[in-house]
Amino acid sequence: MTMTAASELAANADDLSVWPASTGRLPHGGLAVGGVSLTEIADRFGTPVYVLDEGEVRARCRTYRDAFPDAHVLYAAKAFLSRAMVRWVAEEGLGLDVCSAGELELAVTAGFPADRILLHGNAKSPHDIEAALRLGVGRIVIDSPSEIARLAAAVGTGGAQKVMVRVVPGIMAGGHEKIRTGTDGQKFGLSLTDGSAQHAIARVLHQPRLELTGLHCHIGSQITEVKPYVAAVRRMVGLMARIRDAHGVVLPELDMGGGHGIAYRPGEPALDLTALARRLRTELVASCAAAGLAVPRLAIEPGRAIVGPAGVALYRVLAVKRGGERVFVAVDGGMSDNPRPALYGVRYAPRLIGRRSTAEPCTATVVGRHCEAGDILAADVELPGDVHPGDLLAVPVAGAYQLSMASGYNMVGRPPVVAVDGGTARLLVRRETLADFRSRDIGG
Ligand code: LLP
Repeated sequence: MTMTAASELAANADDLSVWPASTGRLPHGGLAVGGVSLTEIADRFGTPVYVLDEGEVRARCRTYRDAFPDAHVLYAAKAFLSRAMVRWVAEEGLGLDVCSAGELELAVTAGFPADRILLHGNAKSPHDIEAALRLGVGRIVIDSPSEIARLAAAVGTGGAQKVMVRVVPGIMAGGHEKIRTGTDGQKFGLSLTDGSAQHAIARVLHQPRLELTGLHCHIGSQITEVKPYVAAVRRMVGLMARIRDAHGVVLPELDMGGGHGIAYRPGEPALDLTALARRLRTELVASCAAAGLAVPRLAIEPGRAIVGPAGVALYRVLAVKRGGERVFVAVDGGMSDNPRPALYGVRYAPRLIGRRSTAEPCTATVVGRHCEAGDILAADVELPGDVHPGDLLAVPVAGAYQLSMASGYNMVGRPPVVAVDGGTARLLVRRETLADFRSRDIGG
């Protein structure tokens, strides 16, 4: 039987495959996540609002622990961090990867054990280094030659800080040019190809205040294939063997970073974690055996794949413009809560919730409320033709790099974050208000 175009579109629009596992359908076009109606959340907390499914975050942490039982799994805080998130990650037994004193202090003051935290960053400020040493972070990842002496000086005589060295393995991967970090010619890490990694490693090994525990790399983000990781492991083990040959040192750790890709829309590819775990281990064991090296303890740093699919953004439609070639559906958020479409051209799949429509679908462009023509949340998406002001739109896969990259543009204020779990909703982060903007503005 062939479906009509309209019913085919309706079937796609009704696909919940990228939504949290707890998502359920309610009567009259409603949806519940974590047992809570999204319409009720919008009414209670206002819009725009970000909903985070605690059970989904925890389940994803567990999936990683199960898939990588022998590895350190560190959640990459940059994807999203709040005190509740810190607690969930700690309780699920993961470590934490931070890239600033801000992320670090938030985590430690929320009770995260500092020795399970790794600090990285291409340009660490004196404040970052001071906070890392004061709080006692487990690892600091050295990313440039000048950092070696600076860090050693900050550690002081008699001290010892565990460090890793960030290596650029020369592997091309990643969903967008701005998030590819595995090759030379971008700002992160020390090149394996031109020898700067080897040079920095030698200097670290001669620095008694720094204890080199291993090598670190992060080849990019939103990677959906296993192959580049396998290739990167091979190169990193090759370097570890050369270090052993040159310095007689066998490094016990290898951190392969994060970057595990997820689907933002139904049908998009995602990285297969089971396959990644199996093939990384196989390659690691084989390369180490070939080089006569003891197998190092693996670490990985997923951010997006843990929190992205656990988040849903809710917006209220403020205006609909029909006419010309396009239908513009303008909502009460936009690029200040989600800059990702503007930055990377990422596509999302918003859907109408809270009422059932029998109208024929239309192709719409969902835009934000900001004073900028590039403030587009989702171009060319199917929505019911009768979409109108007052409707609610929900955007799945909104948990990663949206609020953490949110801005104060147009003084709209950043949305609140609401956790849902077991049928209850609770506020984690409140909405940013005019009072917040005013209080930072000293007025002088
Ligand atoms: N480890 C390091 C050293 C990283 O730099 C990153 C991400 C991660 C781990 C986590 O990567 P994930 O598993 O989340 O892909 N703003 C961009 C993503 C930038 C990623 C930066 N580094 C986006 O919205 O797609």
